Amino acid sequence: MRADLASEDRITPLQIMNARQELLDIFASGEQGWLKILDDKKYWQTVKTQIQYFSKFKHLLVLGIGGSSLGCRAIIEALRVSGAKTKIHFAGDTTDPDEIEAVFSQLDWKHTAINVISKSGETLETMSVFFLAKERLEKAVGVKKASKSIICITDPEKGALLDFARENDYAILSIPQNIGGRFSTLTAIGLFPAGLAGINIFKILSGAIALRNDWQQYGGASHIINQFAAYHTAHYYKKRGIHVLFCYASALKRFTAWYQQIWAESLGKTPVAGPTPIMAIGPTDQHSQLQLFQDGPNDKVYTFLQVESFQAKPRVPVAITRMANLSYAKNQSFQNLIQSALIGTSEALMAQNKPVGILSIKKIDEISLGQLFVFYEIAVAMMGLMLHINPFNQPGVEDSKQRVKKLLTSNR
Ligand code: PA5
Repeated sequence: MRADLASEDRITPLQIMNARQELLDIFASGEQGWLKILDDKKYWQTVKTQIQYFSKFKHLLVLGIGGSSLGCRAIIEALRVSGAKTKIHFAGDTTDPDEIEAVFSQLDWKHTAINVISKSGETLETMSVFFLAKERLEKAVGVKKASKSIICITDPEKGALLDFARENDYAILSIPQNIGGRFSTLTAIGLFPAGLAGINIFKILSGAIALRNDWQQYGGASHIINQFAAYHTAHYYKKRGIHVLFCYASALKRFTAWYQQIWAESLGKTPVAGPTPIMAIGPTDQHSQLQLFQDGPNDKVYTFLQVESFQAKPRVPVAITRMANLSYAKNQSFQNLIQSALIGTSEALMAQNKPVGILSIKKIDEISLGQLFVFYEIAVAMMGLMLHINPFNQPGVEDSKQRVKKLLTSNR
């Protein structure tokens, strides 16, 4: 992994090291557990055992929302393993009835397992779809067999889902209490479904552990994660509070959606502290948002996410020379097309004095993906501490939940 950032706009090395120490203290006290769990052998053995048991099902319906869904979807979409025995389907992140039925219509309930994921066990979207799915499953296979086809991932000690799972003898995997939703991708939440999708979850963990160790042991002020966090914080203070992740790899589209959540929910905390994340996909968004980026206000910071090497190697056929204005593309590899789009676009923004950084991974694989998650998780936590806010809570989503509840209660 490599990050090329402009050399200006730094927070001082002392401020960086203070934030780093604060974060290390948070980990050491056990207040946050998302780095420690990466090498908890007992925990991962339990996850592996459940993956082995559930691999007999043709379909796995994964239900979750926010931190209980986005990271898992990002992994499965990025790594696209072909030939896995179990097909993964996602729902529970919307109450759109047409979408729910569209997903359900792809299932053969007789060969389907349900994986419901909710840390609180009380999320309306997830739990309402869970009870609908459970009803369909029980209709198809009976209550007894259904109970052996359901696995819940939830808090290990409390919550309505945990109680319900115990009452009905469902399989249970836990999310340690000191790991919040959006920091939980590298727990059973992200890696149980990924394992069933045929992905080597231990390679993901080893990528994550390598970068974590590097940051913990050698994470001085110039470490790329610390620099990345400091760079965005410095620009935020200079009124560049809009942070664009411009990703030039379609397989990482869902990763950018995960980025958007961890950035927004962790850092948007007070009227004066709220960097705004924007996801953009290249080259698609060169024909959509780029006009605004290029000529609009200089209030944004751009990170281009580059994949140096793609698996497929097609080339543009020579026949394109029939289009006189495009003959320069003849015989070019598509990889070259997408890299040139990234470089050309980043240079155009730099020419307008827009701050641009490039974050590169060699290729999309388990190792680089594990690193990307840890990179952003630590960077976001560091930014939160530099901005003097708590990056680990989300008090702002409560009001909307209560209002929805009130509406539904008065509608009865
Ligand atoms: O990051 C978070 O904490 C949230 O996005 C939660 O993951 C999301 O609200 C889902 O919560 P739960 O897992 O309790 O159903």
